[in-house]
Amino acid sequence: MLRASIAAMCALAIGVHAIGQDSCVVFKSAPSTVPVVSKGKTSPILTSADDWPGVHVATASFASDIQRVTGAKPSLSNFTVTSSLSASTPIIVGTLGKSSLIAQVVNATKLDVSSIEGKWESFLAREVKNPLPGVAGAYVIIGADKRGTIFALYDHSEQFGVSPWYWWADVPTTKHAELFVTSSGCSHGSPSVKYRGIFLNDEQPALQSWAFEKFTNGTTDSPLNSPFNHFFYAKLFELMLRMKANYLWPAIWGSAFAIDDKENQPLADFYGIVMGTSHQEPMMRSTPNEFTLFGKGTWDYLHNADNIKEYWLEGTKRAKPFESVYTLGTRGFGDLPLSEDTNIELLEQVISDQTAILESVYGGDVSTIPQIWTLYKEVEGYYDGGMRVPDYVTLLWSDDNWGNIRRFPTASERNRTGGAGVYYHVDYVGDPRDYKWITSSQISKIYEQMSIAVDREATRLWILNVGDLKPYERETEFFITYGWNTTRWASDNLNTFVSAWAQREFDVSPAVAGTVVDIVANLTRFNARRKPELLNATTYSLINYREAEGVLSSWATLQDASTKIYNSLSNDLKPSFFQLVHHPVLASANLANILVSAGINNMRASQARISANDMADQAQKFFERDFDLETQYHELLNGKWNHMMDQTHIGYYYWQQPMTNTMPAINRVQARKQALAGIMRIVPEGTLGAWPGDNSNQCAQGYNCPPPSISLDPFSPFGNRYIDVGAGGPVPFTFKATSNESWVSLSPAQGSISPKSPEQRVFVTVKDWSRLTAGTHTATVTFTATAAKQPPLAVQVVFTATKTTLPGSFRGFVEGSGAVSIEAAHSTRNTTANGVSWRELPGYGRTLSGVTPWPRLGNNDSNFTIGAGPSLEYDFYNFNTINGSGNITVTTFVSPSLNAGERDRPLAFAVQVDAQAPQTSYFFPPAVPGGLPTAWGGLDGFVANGIISVNMIFNGVSPGPHTLKVFAIEPAVVVQRIVINTGGVQPSYLGPPESTVTT
Ligand SMILES: *[C@@H]1O[C@H](CO)[C@@H](O)[C@H](O)[C@H]1NC(C)=O
Repeated sequence: MLRASIAAMCALAIGVHAIGQDSCVVFKSAPSTVPVVSKGKTSPILTSADDWPGVHVATASFASDIQRVTGAKPSLSNFTVTSSLSASTPIIVGTLGKSSLIAQVVNATKLDVSSIEGKWESFLAREVKNPLPGVAGAYVIIGADKRGTIFALYDHSEQFGVSPWYWWADVPTTKHAELFVTSSGCSHGSPSVKYRGIFLNDEQPALQSWAFEKFTNGTTDSPLNSPFNHFFYAKLFELMLRMKANYLWPAIWGSAFAIDDKENQPLADFYGIVMGTSHQEPMMRSTPNEFTLFGKGTWDYLHNADNIKEYWLEGTKRAKPFESVYTLGTRGFGDLPLSEDTNIELLEQVISDQTAILESVYGGDVSTIPQIWTLYKEVEGYYDGGMRVPDYVTLLWSDDNWGNIRRFPTASERNRTGGAGVYYHVDYVGDPRDYKWITSSQISKIYEQMSIAVDREATRLWILNVGDLKPYERETEFFITYGWNTTRWASDNLNTFVSAWAQREFDVSPAVAGTVVDIVANLTRFNARRKPELLNATTYSLINYREAEGVLSSWATLQDASTKIYNSLSNDLKPSFFQLVHHPVLASANLANILVSAGINNMRASQARISANDMADQAQKFFERDFDLETQYHELLNGKWNHMMDQTHIGYYYWQQPMTNTMPAINRVQARKQALAGIMRIVPEGTLGAWPGDNSNQCAQGYNCPPPSISLDPFSPFGNRYIDVGAGGPVPFTFKATSNESWVSLSPAQGSISPKSPEQRVFVTVKDWSRLTAGTHTATVTFTATAAKQPPLAVQVVFTATKTTLPGSFRGFVEGSGAVSIEAAHSTRNTTANGVSWRELPGYGRTLSGVTPWPRLGNNDSNFTIGAGPSLEYDFYNFNTINGSGNITVTTFVSPSLNAGERDRPLAFAVQVDAQAPQTSYFFPPAVPGGLPTAWGGLDGFVANGIISVNMIFNGVSPGPHTLKVFAIEPAVVVQRIVINTGGVQPSYLGPPESTVTT
């Protein structure tokens, strides 16, 4: 699983501590640099008293950051004519059009600021000569506006080595005695996405309990007793600005931002954060909480409009002094749909009344006030039903809460002045099940969806539901960083985000960072295959394709890699690595171990194997360890993050979180009692049955069943089969495995079984396929148990070896055990049509990667007719068809992307075998406007499985070489895997392992 990703990492030139930024910081003197700290001397920092307060706050942080790095604190002052600056190269900080100091410097130096002037949040920094009387040179940091200056400062801080997460994830700062900036400095134009925000949501139990302990003394001034006061938010605002986020939907469930602490709202503006409210809280008021406290009458616009308008007027007046984005529209109380008698007309009235409120408070034209209308759930249906809002209002499209965006702007919607945005989730409470415990979103998937939003111009505002914020630090930063500059990131350089992140956070070598890339990719891949909350003891097959054990061994590999890094880190680096990588790996791996142990326990108990009890003990041990890991997190750094891992995650009964973690059911057998059928249990791979004796899984009848059988061919996955020999009770015995045919290999062919060592796996294979003739060969494998004072016991297993032969000329995928399994990226050929071709999204999806038509707008914003689009071609060879019928089933595993494009163009692709007519799939069923089809939900639905399996039957595919083609019809379809069933596909979660390919 672990592959070094160094080559990919070098694809993008990256500074030591910069993630996708220009680099302008060095740690030793060099030509064309300006000292920040050198030989113990610090350069003074100059600001202007008339600059924004937020700039002063950030400049003070910037000065502290220099001290964090060098130990020396620079002087920081507002420039006055009397400032004594001789013999120094000051750092001059300020905002264009605001700072009189910057005006003076620009005037004196004739610095060309046209590249940033009037450009939202842009900045430049560079060395200038003779900026001020008596000052020969300086390094100026100039923002085009308030946040332009703030982001410029924090951009430098990050490159100095101060992580945005230095407090929020305890990332230590690497010390340097010397610190320089380059003369040419750093600059950045306007960000790709204007508003880049986070939404604290569903903050109980973790964030809220933690904040209560850390930011209150047990009581609060909040009428709701919310802990989210200005002490908390000051920490959050700083983090956001350091990440270059600018927009916040505050915690809402037991909170009301503006009244929990009267300082919250002014503080946001003071820092430079634009406040908003969630999709269901119009006009800058926390709803329903504030309405419950202060509103008159009921939350019913049909019957109580005047009081609700009054309530919204208050919110608008209150927010007027501050920078805000207004949420328009309305939903029902508690984020529920409005009542049934609600209709488009009423909602249009709501918006028109809200517009009137804005006009009355702000006076005149309100088209320049940022406003959003969130098309979440049923509200999207109103839009589809024809409801429209003023052109200047941003349409905020939403995902399905599971990371699949529901709708992208269509060609005709892309020229609205208010533009469009996206509300996205990495944490969710709701159907089919909450996911809010641990990181379970792949950066590659976030990129895949958000990059479509970029290409379809939904870039005015992005907001990410981050739940408790921790443990989604990395995914949150990726979302914001991508929005900051979407041109820096492409499907094939996402690994450089994680490797640069790892180097910044853990000060590790590029090689170790490469390992972290793989750990993170696999951690999130495994947790995204199925959210941990949705896993159960039999999600992964216990008997087919060695799936469950493969999952555990992959987790073990990750645990080992993570542990190795953790152990190698100095003590000051351990806490951050633990929070950001190690804990999620250990805790997720441990959960997999709890569940698979329970699954094996249940199975073995039904098979009368006393080792069932060992698995029960093991499940119990892992279950306890889950709490140990939570406790370890909570005890970190003297309890700094106490409660942050309070979230329950084991034993869901329905969509909502269980009130405590509940152990999966385990069974026990009487270890002192002898199994009725005898001392030895024989369980071949691929069956839930056990022999001798009766077992409902042996055959349909459940008694008098035939002996067990196993089969193998030269292209079977794993190249062998196993037969487990187990103890059926307390009596120790020895066993011998023998065969009547000399071509059979048994390993080991004997063993000793006892309660202390109750299981032995015997592998069965063919010694040398070349010495078998083509066709089917049958052998009997006999297991004989010998024990003192016991009757002799022998169990026979029928072993069928089918020698399939391939013409030497064939190149491609070869059927094994009745299946051809293909990773979609491994096409034999890949064609282009009208400049569109299938491109790999590395690391994406459940197994290897995904492939999707590129560019994302498809055939120039249009689709392809069946068979005309670019194709992926796979050569394969089959030896069988289903029951000899000539039929095969092709299952294409596609991502559960939604029909998010033009209304009349659902997602589609076509599959063709040889020259047969292509079959088309419109795999995402239609749904009522704003709704989702039944197949999307449920515990076996599209999002629970993280995949849609599209089955097609092809006839007349007689044994031999064939070519399968996948044709693009619509863009935004992501194909992950293709499984061809020629009669042998067995049930499993991920499908058979990839087939042999001859080259
Ligand atoms: C500069 O002036 C502003 C506005 O009066 C003030 O808030 C800030 O603290 C001053 N900075 C320093 C370093 O004195």
